[in-house]
Amino acid sequence: MGEFHIRSLNHAQGEIQYLTHPRLWGRGLGTAIGRRLLRVGFHQLGMHRIYATCDPRNVASAAILKKLGMTKEGHLRHTTKLRDGWRDSILFSILDSEWTDDPDRG
Ligand SMILES: CC(C)(COP(=O)(O)OP(=O)(O)OC[C@H]1O[C@@H](n2cnc3c(N)ncnc32)[C@H](O)[C@@H]1OP(=O)(O)O)[C@@H](O)C(=O)NCCC(=O)NCCS
Repeated sequence: MGEFHIRSLNHAQGEIQYLTHPRLWGRGLGTAIGRRLLRVGFHQLGMHRIYATCDPRNVASAAILKKLGMTKEGHLRHTTKLRDGWRDSILFSILDSEWTDDPDRG
């Protein structure tokens, strides 16, 4: 499943988040959801910039974001408090001018 959050209407900023069932991992589903969310954000909602964050240890999610043409903007420190301590986040984004709705991409 995927979620699109409009973070600012005035500034046309959105965020994507997605999740797939572990039994379905590695079949391209996460990439397909991400691409669909970007399509909705740029084509239907008129966003200018769409971003996503992931745990630095989450190599699969980072791979998806790169395949979608997103750029790594930075490493955010201690964004989330987990039971075993603080967790960092990697921030990725893509601008409307960079988005190509290419199904062969990813
Ligand atoms: C991250 C997540 C969505 C991936 O879903 P998925 O359906 O397996 O994704 P895909 O099959 O489209 O692609 C995963 C990519 O990561 C790569 N990957 C997976 N595990 C990897 C690993 N350990 N090392 C390197 N690459 C890895 C796959 O090879 C694939 O890339 P490829 O198509 O170029 O080979 C899924 O693991 C998940 O729901 N995790 C929990 C929630 C989460 O982390 N959400 C993202 C934060 S918004």
